[in-house]
Amino acid sequence: MTRVLRGRIVVWRDDPLDAGAAARRYVEDGAILIRDGRVAALGEAAAILRDLPPDIELVDCRPHLLMPGFIDPHLHAPQTHVIASYGAELIEWLQKYTFVEEQRHADAAHAARCADFLCDELLRNGTTTACVYTAVYPCSAEAVFAAAQARDMRMIVGKTMMDRNAPAALTDTPQRGYDESKALIARWHKRGRQLFAVTPRFAITSSEAQLECAGALLREHPDCLMQTHLDENPREIDWVRELFPWSEDYAQVYERFGLLGSGSLLGHCIHMTDGERKRLSDSRSVAVFCPTSNLFIGSGLFDLDRARDPRFPLRLAIATDIGGGTSYSMLTTLGEAYKALMLRGQRLTADRAFYMATLGNARALGLEAQIGSLAIGAEADVVVLDSRATPAMAHRAETLRDLDEELFLLMTMGDDRAVAATYVMGERVHARA
Ligand code: GUN
Ligand code: ZN
Repeated sequence: MTRVLRGRIVVWRDDPLDAGAAARRYVEDGAILIRDGRVAALGEAAAILRDLPPDIELVDCRPHLLMPGFIDPHLHAPQTHVIASYGAELIEWLQKYTFVEEQRHADAAHAARCADFLCDELLRNGTTTACVYTAVYPCSAEAVFAAAQARDMRMIVGKTMMDRNAPAALTDTPQRGYDESKALIARWHKRGRQLFAVTPRFAITSSEAQLECAGALLREHPDCLMQTHLDENPREIDWVRELFPWSEDYAQVYERFGLLGSGSLLGHCIHMTDGERKRLSDSRSVAVFCPTSNLFIGSGLFDLDRARDPRFPLRLAIATDIGGGTSYSMLTTLGEAYKALMLRGQRLTADRAFYMATLGNARALGLEAQIGSLAIGAEADVVVLDSRATPAMAHRAETLRDLDEELFLLMTMGDDRAVAATYVMGERVHARA
């Protein structure tokens, strides 16, 4: 398969805070040549079109903006029916809504239906890769892997491990969590584009024996990722202190069991001490900012600037956290991040926001050679964005002066309606009606 997408192309090579204007490449009349699902060339349309054989499919996306497909590094597949559940902070929200709904995912048919919905909804929103928590049941992880595989999406999926402080029907045991994860790794890790993440839900719902097993899984499979939650909510932190009285802080629990490292994704990280920042920094673990969730569950305001504290610089990612998060759209997520940061006097430029949703998140997953860049040889996952998607956006767009203003409009007013099309491995998997 060979195909050319023509349009205005923007890609990031680095964090704008580190590289300034050189962080971004913009081609006003650009083209991406895609061969066998990978980027074969990206540059000026005139140059790329000149050298093409006549039988190649040319897709003219002008005047839309083309960029790498969005990456969502933290969401929960069994929470597609939990999103928009009213009026509870974290622990109550888990007990009242989440732990109830997740039990329905013991039914493989229900899990499969929700997994299909999730993948289609992500693609409709321009998200081509996600890191996914499933329910505790292996069939729930199986469902997400199968749905992702059917769409050729690069997905990172974990069977949630939880053996206490949850309804009995929603728990495993240390041994079962280990065995079931092991079987899923054998069946799915590195099959096609699929990857496995060892997924102890959080310290509250895993015994020390289970955290030990999670650490063993990571030692035995060092190329798997690890995902869990950290420092989301004060009540959660107090409970962790009671459950692990020997630990100096919450992050030390994960550290003790070998769960921190460069492949470790820690959701939320809002209420961190300096000691915890140092543990994450030293281990090169990733803090995942989930703005719509933090606002919706009232968890608190993430400190983005602090991640650049020279004493303990942190690797960062930004995610939806469906269904504590309220939107499948990474555009909306970036816009809410901007607002949450404004509440604590911090700024997020559109340039940096889109870097984070693409190459930044790819780097956080250690997948920057595959996704998030549209570099030559990379996987051709592309989102096509329409900055005039709604009457109000089109009206505002009349006065746009440059690309930065256009990107800021997209993240402030854009959502699924601004996604004109999505391509996965060069194949169109979504086209707006
Ligand atoms: N902490 C443990 N489980 C969850 C979850 O499902 N969502 C959120 N937002 N936080 C959690
Ligand atoms: Zn979460």
